[in-house]
Amino acid sequence: MRILFYDTKTYDKESFTETREKMERKAELQIDYLKTDLAPATAQLAKGYDAVCAFVNSDVSGVTVRRLAENGVKRILMRSAGFNNVDLEEAKSCGIHVYRVPGYSPEAVAEHAMALALGVNRHLHKAYVKVRENDFSLSGLMGIDLHGKTAGIVGTGKIGAAMARICYGFGMKVLAYDLYQNPMLEGMVSYVDFETLLASSDLISLHCPLLDDTYHLIRKETIDQMKEGVIFVNTSRGALVDTEDLIEGIRARKFFGVALDVYEEETPNVFEDRSEDIMEHSVTARLLSFPNVIITSHQGFFTKEALDAIAAVTLDNALADVTEELPSKIC
Ligand code: NAI
Repeated sequence: MRILFYDTKTYDKESFTETREKMERKAELQIDYLKTDLAPATAQLAKGYDAVCAFVNSDVSGVTVRRLAENGVKRILMRSAGFNNVDLEEAKSCGIHVYRVPGYSPEAVAEHAMALALGVNRHLHKAYVKVRENDFSLSGLMGIDLHGKTAGIVGTGKIGAAMARICYGFGMKVLAYDLYQNPMLEGMVSYVDFETLLASSDLISLHCPLLDDTYHLIRKETIDQMKEGVIFVNTSRGALVDTEDLIEGIRARKFFGVALDVYEEETPNVFEDRSEDIMEHSVTARLLSFPNVIITSHQGFFTKEALDAIAAVTLDNALADVTEELPSKIC
């Protein structure tokens, strides 16, 4: 199994090399690492490989998938939970099997979601800078107690359930909206309709996948239904939120705080050092111009435990029999 690994960062190479070393079937796996990301123009580099390994911002659109197939690739190994960037119909018609890592460390993402909520609530981004500048005043730093408040969790799969447990542990009342109820959360969470969740929650955290019916789930109409002074957190996918409407909502002082690990414009930014770039049309810069907004760069998954689990499941996926129905096999 020859795998071409796209968009490699140092930590990817370290975790995959370490995990491969521990595997009984390591001799069957050959991995070559590329810094460049997967896109139509780079797909042909995979000629002679059995599989490619891609990530959340790789362009695995129809054109890319067809080029991979023309070059003999048989598997796409997504080293992520989300797979909204993969053209599955094209993969199926080209006979390419697509795998992902369904749940590597839900707690990693949920803990980051709560870190963002706490950070923006207690203005840690401002407090850190103030103290560094010897400004020990408290102006602009007042937060709210989360204890006794209401959390609204949208999507109670693995990550949403972990976030619900964290909020419950904080002494919050936890409301949830999902198409299916998670029996593991019985007694901890009250399922309500989406409108009730929006209208009743002091903290709203998104944990549903990006699908056609969740695209711009948060837009003017749904922002208008939220409580005044809500804290809004998105660690799921950027396009769940209409950013222009979010900015309008922030300007209208709807939010106590907004904390985003993902946002619509993230693709060129994610995992890149762009500190020397002049950003001409940056939604990120506009969002960051508000004092009550924190943005991180898609780092929810980024813990040691999660990286090890991603490497282990991805390499198992590489060696799996394609006829085997696994939770990690998408098609
Ligand atoms: P999951 O598949 O376990 O749970 C997703 C839940 O969303 C399911 O319970 C599903 O029924 C629900 N859902 C689907 N459509 C819905 C809708 N229209 N309204 C409300 N709920 C709906 O997925 P998991 O592992 O919990 O991941 C959730 C999302 O988190 C992923 O799709 C991905 O976009 C994001 N993610 C972000 C990471 C980061 O680093 N920031 C890392 C990993 C995942």
